Amino acid sequence: MAIGLGLEVASEIRFSFQHRLFFSRGILEASNALLAEHLIPSSGDRRARALVFLDQGLLNKNPALPEKIRRYFLEYSERILLVDLPKVIPGGEAAKSEEVLFRLILAEIERNRLCRHSYVIAIGGGAVLDAVGFAASLTHRGVRQIRLPTTVLAQCDAGIGIKNGINWRNKKNYLGVFQVPQAILNDLSFLETLPDSVWCSGFAEAVKVALIRDREFFDWIERNARNLTTRGMAEVGDLIRRCAELHVRQIATGGDPFELGSSRPLDFGHWLAHKLEQVSEFKLSHGHCVALGMTVDSLYASRIGLLSVEDLERVLGCLSELGFSQKVSRHLGLEGEPLIDHLMTGISEFQEHLGGRLALTLLRGIGIPTEVSEVDAYQMRQVLRKLF
Ligand SMILES: NC(=O)c1ccc[n+]([C@@H]2O[C@H](COP(=O)([O-])OP(=O)(O)OC[C@H]3O[C@@H](n4cnc5c(N)ncnc54)[C@H](O)[C@@H]3O)[C@@H](O)[C@H]2O)c1
Ligand SMILES: [Zn+2]
Repeated sequence: MAIGLGLEVASEIRFSFQHRLFFSRGILEASNALLAEHLIPSSGDRRARALVFLDQGLLNKNPALPEKIRRYFLEYSERILLVDLPKVIPGGEAAKSEEVLFRLILAEIERNRLCRHSYVIAIGGGAVLDAVGFAASLTHRGVRQIRLPTTVLAQCDAGIGIKNGINWRNKKNYLGVFQVPQAILNDLSFLETLPDSVWCSGFAEAVKVALIRDREFFDWIERNARNLTTRGMAEVGDLIRRCAELHVRQIATGGDPFELGSSRPLDFGHWLAHKLEQVSEFKLSHGHCVALGMTVDSLYASRIGLLSVEDLERVLGCLSELGFSQKVSRHLGLEGEPLIDHLMTGISEFQEHLGGRLALTLLRGIGIPTEVSEVDAYQMRQVLRKLF
């Protein structure tokens, strides 16, 4: 037994990871080599093998996509191989909530005999990316994944991080792992077919990162809210770039990429968001729930004297301008005190998810986060009662 014998630790080594995020247009056009360049054949193989998973909602609006993918692989057939027809998965939260679907993704990876040098390419919204990424990271302890996010939220947040996971036993993101994707390829042209509600829901994560990291970015979002909601492509492109940059910077330089500590600034507004998604049976989108989570936490921060009324009004005004309604009661499966009791359990579930002491990010001002380890339950309940 080593303990007590005075043996020394033999080594302490640091590992590093490479995170690659690209912006391009027409990523699946045969003339664009970006994707092909990231599919690297392993030594001894002539071609890199890849299996594609497609979001059903995206496919419905772009029925020619499977043919486009087939042609793409044909164009670069010297060095890349599409091992099977693209596999279609229902989009939205179902993708990461139904165990049977998750088993199907795993089964397709197994049936196509992907190895650790093969690639799983996930094309879709955040939910599809989460589920496919999780399946890829579990198989052989990690088949390489490439993500092509196709919603505003996925391009500025969900798709560009290093988390993969699914919901389990009605708990949001209960099962999951960290895996750094081989590459994330953001293509604004995917966004053109988004329904308005999905388009707008992505702004919540941008407001979040602006509120905790970058006051000037918040000012910019406030000034450009109208152009953003009326689908100004130039503005949404700028928003995605800035949000993605701040997000990646937090992962790379925040000191805790794998979230081993308790601090989670990027989860501002999320303790309640996850609870609201659950209690609405996912009728409310993740983005909308994050907006409501930030609303509640900002109202609470103002009530306990952390956030000025002026800054509170700016936060609420901006979210309202971006189209996030506060009138959601009809979507919630509970009401009155049972609803409030249920929502309050989000705080302890959040703490359990993080581990350690409670660390809730609140605002002291726009762009000025602070962390609290206790919540005044009476004040928080008052805020929840007022809103729901
Ligand atoms: N892994 C992470 O770090 C992380 C971070 C934030 C959010 N998330 C997760 O992301 C999910 C939300 O992702 P989302 O906002 O992208 O929504 P989503 O994945 O739920 O997709 C919303 C809808 O848009 C459809 N769709 C996707 N792309 C489309 C396109 N280009 N055209 C037409 N329809 C399209 C989908 O089929 C679906 O019906 C949540 O499950 C959330 O928990 C994960
Ligand atoms: Zn989120």
